[in-house]
Amino acid sequence: MNNILVFDSGVGGISVVREIKQLLPQLSIDYLFDNLYYPYGQLDELTLINRLVALLGKLVISHQPDLIVIACNSASTIALPALRENFDIPIVGVVPAIKPASLISQSKKIGLLATQGTITRDYIDQLKESHAKDCQLISVGSAELVDMAEQLFRGEAVNQQQLKRICQPVIDNADVMILGCTHFPLLRQALNQICPKHIQIIDSGEAIAQRVKALLSTNKKMPDVMTNYRAFYTESNIDNRLYASLFTEGFNEVKLITL
Ligand code: DGL
Repeated sequence: MNNILVFDSGVGGISVVREIKQLLPQLSIDYLFDNLYYPYGQLDELTLINRLVALLGKLVISHQPDLIVIACNSASTIALPALRENFDIPIVGVVPAIKPASLISQSKKIGLLATQGTITRDYIDQLKESHAKDCQLISVGSAELVDMAEQLFRGEAVNQQQLKRICQPVIDNADVMILGCTHFPLLRQALNQICPKHIQIIDSGEAIAQRVKALLSTNKKMPDVMTNYRAFYTESNIDNRLYASLFTEGFNEVKLITL
């Protein structure tokens, strides 16, 4: 029986869970979101690394996952080395799809929507330097967009004008829009409506699912008889709409965990 742990600060990582479920329908998934420390895009780097090591450490001991997915760009772009040092199981991270964007861009102007934390990381400069040297990168860091995705998941409508205003620098200048935060694929329908047709919108979700599949294929465990999807949150004051939406999403258990 394979069991993986997928992690994010909020509901954004569910965009990655959806891709993994589609590719690996027999895999059991525990989804942990750290809503007590949300949003991660605003956290200083040391706090973020220490928090992740402590929180994931607790779940690794109690749930013994075969693999961890850090379905959070803000965390992956800074904490992966520390996590790999601390845990003895494969860890898959998510980073903005700068390389694929540079390959499909005609204008060589690519737009990156991410959190403020992600767009300011050295890791992004390194990705650009290695894979998109010939491209101009137009970065937009927005905590507002993350909140909009959270609200949408709770059943609230997206304000199209607000969305357009945030994305305008990318719409005006680029031909590829990278969703460099796992929350943003949740807004994809709304983004399709405000973006002109020549802009291609890409994210890293499917590539992560493929990576999980490749890593688990060397693992000889039997498929689950009953697939289990559990969600764990860290802030006890959970909104009823969020609770209900998690069950609608397919989680069969939704539980608080504390450190
Ligand atoms: N989903 C996250 C990301 O990919 C984090 C958003 C946040 O908490 O600021 O960056």
